[in-house]
Parts: sequence; C-alpha cells; structure tokens
Amino acid sequence: MTAPAPTRSSAELIRAEEPVLAHNYHPLPVVVARAEGTWVEDVEGRRYLDMLAGYSALNFGHRHPALIEAAHRQLDRLTLTSRAFHNDQLAEFAERLTALTGLDMVLPMNTGAEAVESGIKVARKWAYDVKGVPADRATIVVAAENFHGRTTTIVSFSTDETARAGFGPFTPGFRIVPYNDLAAMEAAIDETTAAVLLEPIQGEAGVIIPDDGYLAGVRALTERAGCLLIADEIQSGLGRTGRTLAVEHEGVVPDVLLLGKALGGGIVPVSAVVARREVLSVLHPGEHGSTFGGNPLAAGVGTAVVELLETGEYQRRAAELGVVLRGGLHRLVGRGVVGFRARGLWAGVDVDPAIGTGREVSERLMGEGVLVKDTHGSTIRLAPPLTITAEELESALASLEKVLGA
Ligand SMILES: Cc1ncc(COP(=O)(O)O)c(C=O)c1O
Repeated sequence: MTAPAPTRSSAELIRAEEPVLAHNYHPLPVVVARAEGTWVEDVEGRRYLDMLAGYSALNFGHRHPALIEAAHRQLDRLTLTSRAFHNDQLAEFAERLTALTGLDMVLPMNTGAEAVESGIKVARKWAYDVKGVPADRATIVVAAENFHGRTTTIVSFSTDETARAGFGPFTPGFRIVPYNDLAAMEAAIDETTAAVLLEPIQGEAGVIIPDDGYLAGVRALTERAGCLLIADEIQSGLGRTGRTLAVEHEGVVPDVLLLGKALGGGIVPVSAVVARREVLSVLHPGEHGSTFGGNPLAAGVGTAVVELLETGEYQRRAAELGVVLRGGLHRLVGRGVVGFRARGLWAGVDVDPAIGTGREVSERLMGEGVLVKDTHGSTIRLAPPLTITAEELESALASLEKVLGA
C-alpha cells in the first residue's frame, strides 16, 4: 500500500468537506486513503479492519488482484462505447451472468437504484404487453421497511419518513404490506398486480431475515396470481449469505433478479436486471437505456466478478465463516448484545441501548481499529469482505466484546 504523502490531515480533510459537500451523509470520522483486502488505512497511516465492505460492494475485499487486473486490462484497451455500438466485452458478461443465475437475459445498468427503477419499468411493461393489465393500472406490491434506493419513484414506496419527507409528490402504483406476512401479501395481490418486489433479507432495516417458508410462499402466491417476483439481491446477493443468491436458501427462482454493488467488484458501478426471456423481451429499442450501462470497463470487471463466483469459493467462505460470526455473536447475547440476526457473513446486531446508540458503538469500534456502520437506533451491521480470515473475524468480535464492556 503505497501512495503519495497526504498534504492534509484527516481532521483538515473532514473540515474541508463541510462547506462544499452536501450533508446527505454522516460518515464516521475516518478518512481512508488506501486499502487492500480486508484492511483500510487512513491518511495518518492508522489501519482498520473493514467490517462493512462498502455495504457489500466489496464482497471480494479491496482491490482483489483478479479484479484489478481485469480493470487494468480494460483501461488499456477500451472503456466506453455507449450502446450506440457493440463492444467486445458485453456478450461474455451477459452469457456468464445468466449461466451463474440460471436466468435468460441481462439488462445492464450502473447503480442499484437504476436496476430497481429498470425492474419496475420492465414489470409494468410486462403487465400491459403480456398479462393484459389495462393501461396505467399496474400495481407493484412491496414490503414495509424496504430499502431499494433513493430515486423519486423508489422513495415513493419507502416507509422511512426520513427518506421521503420533502420529496413528494410521489409515484403511484405501489401497495405496501408488512414484511414476512404471507396473508397480507395474498390480500394485496389482485389482477392489476404486475409484480411483488422484495429484498430476500432486508439489509438496511437491520438484516431482517424472514421466517423459513416466506420466500417460497411468496413465490407460490405470485405463480398462482400470474404476476412476477422481483428479488432485489443488490445487497444480499453474490455470495454474502453463503450462496450465490439469498433466494437459493429457499430454492426460489425469481422472474426478475436485481444485482448491483459487488457486481462492480468495488471498482466501478455495475448493476443489472437479470430475468426470464419472456419478461426482458418486452423492451424494444428506444424504450429504455443508459449511456454507461454495459460499458466495456464495467462488463470486463463484471465478468471477472462472475468468474470469482463461479469457483464457489466465496460462497463457501461466507457459509463457513458465518458459523464463526454467529458463534461469536451468540456468546455476546446478554453481555451487551440483546439480539442478532445473521446469515452467512452478514449480521444485524442489536446492542443494549443502555450501552450506547449504534453510532456510539460504531465510533468506539473505530477507536479499536474496526469499521462498522449503524442502522436504526442501537443496531449495527456487520458485513465484512468474504475474503476475511477466521482470525480477523475473531479479532473484530473481540473488539466488539471490549467496546460493549462484556
Ligand atoms: C437492497 C438494495 N437495493 C437497492 C440499493 C440501492 O443501490 P445504490 O445505492 O447503488 O443505488 C441498495 C443500497 O443499499 C440496497 O441495499
């Protein structure tokens, strides 16, 4: 990890951001200057174990050699064509991604929110063109406490007032039901329903894992009603839970899969709508697009990401180390931790509010050289790179134990 000597200290850089950057985030007071694998280093050279991994965008760690090599290779040849022309990277990316996911076609986009928006548009078009829903009447059923991104349409069906307030008027056509409630889901679906859009595990809500049978139940309901199931695996997918996709834990195959974050290897924004042919075939030239979607740099890196997942190594690591993570958290229950939910290398940990808010615990962990992120109230989220070692994971758990005073 070598970089030019910094000209400003962490404190100076944090102060410098204040007047010139929008205040839509409240970052921990650490200024990262370089990173490798599971470790990041700040401007002053202090090292931290990254237990957030860019909200799962860094599933393969920082600067994974195979991904950096793919990016360099592509940077030296071709970076952007727009979709006005073909590029020589896109076919292989789509071939490998469909093979990995068991679906038929890919619509490449850039950010997660764009994949969600695109999935919504595709589902609505499918409802009109294939299902025969009358024009402008299509509905999409979503779950309360969802997090699917930040665009105007997506916040239209958020139940988080902080994400919504002040951003109306909102896009109509969404029905919100409680998560993990099959009866409510069944009641909300009718002949206008184009799709059910769900996170198989709700990440931002605090790593909320539905009861066994819920996802399979929703799949059965959507099949019976003749509507689509859209799985937003932008955070849960690509190895995080110990499988390639979180829906695999229930043997569910969605009609539409939304991927992002780790698909870009932590290097470039790459997202995708991956779907059955009947569904994605509703799009024709001119009806949807993105200047950067499917660019050769993104496709080259995305292909390298899929190649890593084809080995099964990262899914296996997440499953095996997930046992260590769960075991460590289990030991802390009643000793600073009031509860936790975990699957693979992903956990939402509710700390005793008497000990501190999630933010306070995150700051104390930072003092111990471990970076995490709080969600609501006293919940912190653990999502380390899937390349983490058992020793590193144990040391992060020991730091958590220390800051909780257990
Ligand atoms: C499940 C889910 N969907 C969509 C998004 C939005 O992704 P992006 O921030 O890349 O727009 C996120 C981001 O956290 C997410 O967790």
